[in-house]
Amino acid sequence: MSKPWVGIIMGSPSDLEVMSGAASALEELGVPHEVTVVSAHRTPKRMFDYASSAEKRGLRVIIAGAGGAAHLPGMVAAITPLPVIGVPVKSRNSIDGWDSILSILQMPAGVPVATVALDNARNAGILAAQIIGVHDTAVRSRVRSYKESLRSKIESSAKELEKKARKR
Ligand code: RP5
Repeated sequence: MSKPWVGIIMGSPSDLEVMSGAASALEELGVPHEVTVVSAHRTPKRMFDYASSAEKRGLRVIIAGAGGAAHLPGMVAAITPLPVIGVPVKSRNSIDGWDSILSILQMPAGVPVATVALDNARNAGILAAQIIGVHDTAVRSRVRSYKESLRSKIESSAKELEKKARKR
């Protein structure tokens, strides 16, 4: 893949299963990306270096996922001018995921993190592609086709369902 436009980072390798949803969405939409582990509280220097070099390295959007008291997305957003999409991860010892949701979503005014639903890294990947698509017509067109496929899937399911209901 060519130079990455989207950086997918997560607080622990244990987040990978959830976060791979973002990578699959970006693959489907043809957006070059990279994936790594960066922990805000276990590797603070690595986090600072990653966030402060992201723009220079050519990244355009960062997707950051973490569980528990999830500082990673907010701290990265504090350092970089790039848009940050946060993925709350329901980790093993979480309070039903609320700890992560609230610590990512409830950023104080001035440092936004675009927060997707719990464990919904796929939506983060799609949103990142949409942000890239503002300036890249090829990516925008793939996002349009993807949305079209969602529409036609639901419409054919609806037709099937209506047909079955009429037979009853
Ligand atoms: C957070 O703590 C990570 O993002 C992960 O969701 C959670 C648990 O990490 P491990 O103990 O599995 O490494 O920093």
